[in-house]
Amino acid sequence: MFAQMQDISRGTLSVSVATTASSFATRMISAFLKQYPAATIRLDVTNRGTLIRQLESNEKDIVIMGKPPEHMDLVGEAFMKNPLVVIAPPDHPLAGKANISINTLQNEPFVVREPASGTRAALEKLFAWCHISPAIQVEIADNEAIKEAVAAGLGLSVVSRHTLELDLQARRLVILDVEHFPIARNWYLAYRRGKRLSPIALAFKALVFEQAPKMAEALSS
Ligand code: PGA
Repeated sequence: MFAQMQDISRGTLSVSVATTASSFATRMISAFLKQYPAATIRLDVTNRGTLIRQLESNEKDIVIMGKPPEHMDLVGEAFMKNPLVVIAPPDHPLAGKANISINTLQNEPFVVREPASGTRAALEKLFAWCHISPAIQVEIADNEAIKEAVAAGLGLSVVSRHTLELDLQARRLVILDVEHFPIARNWYLAYRRGKRLSPIALAFKALVFEQAPKMAEALSS
């Protein structure tokens, strides 16, 4: 037991998270380092496409992502909900309206993530299912820049509710009440099946599951 604690406190954890998960992943790392102050964390923040490549090459201890790809033999354990919502500037004509039909979005320009993003894939799947194809005005590979673009009136977007905490408080952005939204997604902790997790990876995994309910509550308040 003591030897294992020593392994963890001196260990290095290599964790890669989806861009959208960085808003809570850094808080989880902070909680982890309170327990193991001498541990070292190497955090990579990237999109879904790169996370899949990293899982293929087995180069990370743990990956945090949206739905793990079905074509790979992975352990993927869901630990928190990841609702995707439509955002607009507060002075948008649809702001404050109830039960907006999804067909209304057909006439709205959109600011979207890059094609390798899980958020973008989820949005395209819903639009295809509803037979709508709103114009893509701007494509940006960064959630913060997307929110800036929406606040500046460049179009609507769909982002994780988890990225919006400060923007909603400051009334810089609002969530639109659109049919079929929020898109219900989950956050998963993933790694290759058969991988032997190091003591530090096992300790981090335990902390993620312990912290997730508290974090979900904080993010939805
Ligand atoms: P993204 O990932 O940052 O690549 O959009 C999140 C997800 O898969 O939902």
